[in-house]
Amino acid sequence: MALERTISIIKPDAVAKNVIGQIYSRFENAGLKVVAAKMKHLSKKEAEGFYAVHRERPFFGALVEFMTSGPVMIQVLEGENAVAKNRELMGATNPKDAAPGTIRADFAESIDANAVHGSDSQENAAIEIAYFFSTTELCPR
Ligand code: PPS
Repeated sequence: MALERTISIIKPDAVAKNVIGQIYSRFENAGLKVVAAKMKHLSKKEAEGFYAVHRERPFFGALVEFMTSGPVMIQVLEGENAVAKNRELMGATNPKDAAPGTIRADFAESIDANAVHGSDSQENAAIEIAYFFSTTELCPR
């Protein structure tokens, strides 16, 4: 199977809880490699641009406010089936519905502060990787 790349964002709530390392361990144990990473405090403009597809949804303002409330840790993960694998590790969007042992079940408090973001398709992964990383910031394949 071909290697895929995907974006993972450890959101402000999980960064504030000091669980970046614990979340990285889950990636590593699942066979996902970190091939680029940066910690960043997103501006309003950056968060609005990243979530532009959700602009019309009722929670858009709250989502942008939350994502700019503190630093986030952004990484590109590489591995077989990386998009689906990362989504599986994350668990359901609402931590109340997330399967036991997933990142959101273990570290997230609510649907609006849900610890992690992960690309939902290979197509969106490519767009999201390019949004945060230049090609020279990515480890060569
Ligand atoms: S998903 O995971 O993309 O399929 O989920 P979706 O329901 O489409 O939600 C898109 C992103 O919006 C966040 N979200 C919310 N934020 C604040 N308040 C409420 N009520 C809410 N509902 C959904 C959700 O966590 C998704 O963010 P990301 O960063 O993509 O996970």
